[in-house]
Amino acid sequence: MNITVVYGTEHKGSTYNISQLILNKLKDETSEVTEFFLPKDMPHFCIGCSQCFMNGEEHCPHFEKVNNIKLALEKADLLIFTSPVYVFHATGQMKTLLDHFGYQWMVHRPNKTMFNKMALVISTAAGAGMKSTNKDIIDSLTFWGVGRIFKYGKGVAAINWNGVSDKKKVTIFNDVDKISAKILETSKKVTPSIKVKALFYAMRMAQKKGGFNKADADYWKSQGWLETVRPW
Ligand SMILES: Cc1cc2nc3c(=O)[nH]c(=O)nc-3n(C[C@H](O)[C@H](O)[C@H](O)COP(=O)(O)O)c2cc1C
Repeated sequence: MNITVVYGTEHKGSTYNISQLILNKLKDETSEVTEFFLPKDMPHFCIGCSQCFMNGEEHCPHFEKVNNIKLALEKADLLIFTSPVYVFHATGQMKTLLDHFGYQWMVHRPNKTMFNKMALVISTAAGAGMKSTNKDIIDSLTFWGVGRIFKYGKGVAAINWNGVSDKKKVTIFNDVDKISAKILETSKKVTPSIKVKALFYAMRMAQKKGGFNKADADYWKSQGWLETVRPW
């Protein structure tokens, strides 16, 4: 299975180490693994020009960096997004990246390669906030149309991996085994969840009525989705 990982921090702490444990369970000698670290690999904030929505994503002033990540996401079977909890949410650099993919939300121009992919969202906190942090990322992945989304959040009571107690590490190793097994099982056949399909049909109805802008309307038409073609 090909895997693309987007780390919501350059800090190689608990979140990174847990991600590595899972990666090592999932990858084999045929796997292509591509990793991006934020903000290094996409350091720009969205400037709000809306060029991506109105005229096409290639008009984004940050297209080159965003497109590098987009191409790697497209070729992966599994997307892993990670973030430490910062004040109950994903890191600012992760939010900034996700903002740049607003145009591929299902309400606009969903990327058809997403519907048969899996994603795993991982967060760690000292104590609390994993649920809201994972949700920050899952909201985007769901509206991108990612077929199956797994999540893992862990309160590690530490500010780095060395500080995580041996007792906690044992629970993490067990969780890693379980979640990796689930992903490997699902990878045999990935179909979009009911939620993703329901969202697609709701957006299709809006597009049938003309959509929100010409770029979106032309896109949905060109994909054949207003007729019988489906992205999965
Ligand atoms: C700016 C900042 C904000 C944080 N906010 C929270 C928080 O809201 N809740 C929490 O439990 N821990 C919080 N923490 C602690 C980290 O989430 C926690 O140590 C995490 O495991 C760090 O992950 P890392 O080792 O991968 O960098 C915060 C840490 C930083 C640096």
